[in-house]
Amino acid sequence: MSRQLADHLQYFSELGVDGVSRDPKWRTRPNSQATGGGDCPADAGGPHEDAGETLEDIKTEIGPACTRCKLCTLGRSQTVFGVGNPRARLMFVGEAPGEDEDQKGEPFVGRAGQLLTKIIEAIGLTRDRVYIANVIKCRPPGNRNPEPDEVETCEPYLFRQIDVIQPKVIVPLGKFAAQSLLRTVDPITRLRGRQFDYRGAILIPTFHPAYLLRNPSAKREVWDDMKKVRAILQAD
Ligand code: URA
Repeated sequence: MSRQLADHLQYFSELGVDGVSRDPKWRTRPNSQATGGGDCPADAGGPHEDAGETLEDIKTEIGPACTRCKLCTLGRSQTVFGVGNPRARLMFVGEAPGEDEDQKGEPFVGRAGQLLTKIIEAIGLTRDRVYIANVIKCRPPGNRNPEPDEVETCEPYLFRQIDVIQPKVIVPLGKFAAQSLLRTVDPITRLRGRQFDYRGAILIPTFHPAYLLRNPSAKREVWDDMKKVRAILQAD
């Protein structure tokens, strides 16, 4: 219990809360009150409390057994919504759940996911302080690329997730996510190394961790990208 309390207090201190008061007037909080960023570069983002919609609303609307596209008939076991801090200032977007994710119902939990966790930790963060989602929420059979009708059906939910979270930085992982978000067919080699304005965030494409597993020498470019991400998050 005291461990839980200590973790809670640590979490709030990271959000910029430097004390608690027992004065009853502090128990209600006006909606317009700003939420301070404190010294934590990864969470305590913008005016999320005022947004009408929550991530839970979107998750409930999709449901675990969505039938809006053909992937529900092609062997997926459940939808994989997204995971992490709903107030994250850094959001990663992958392509689609793979087999491990389909089983667990959580994005990036397989080998590529373990590498993503290391990438996140390399800039001093943890998985639960960022947000991780995919362009589409269901596993395509045999891990094939998502098809245009599947993306068209599913991506509005990702856009709504982004609009609720209002991250400062979005990192699309790999060609598919970068091309889908930016609505381009430019290759990832042309997209990475650049920054884009995207739905109020700064979008910094980088290579997919699965690509890094096959091409470890590309880790250097990803590290360059992540240093840029860290600098942006630390800038305010
Ligand atoms: N690859 C992705 O793009 N997303 C996942 O969730 C896992 C692997």
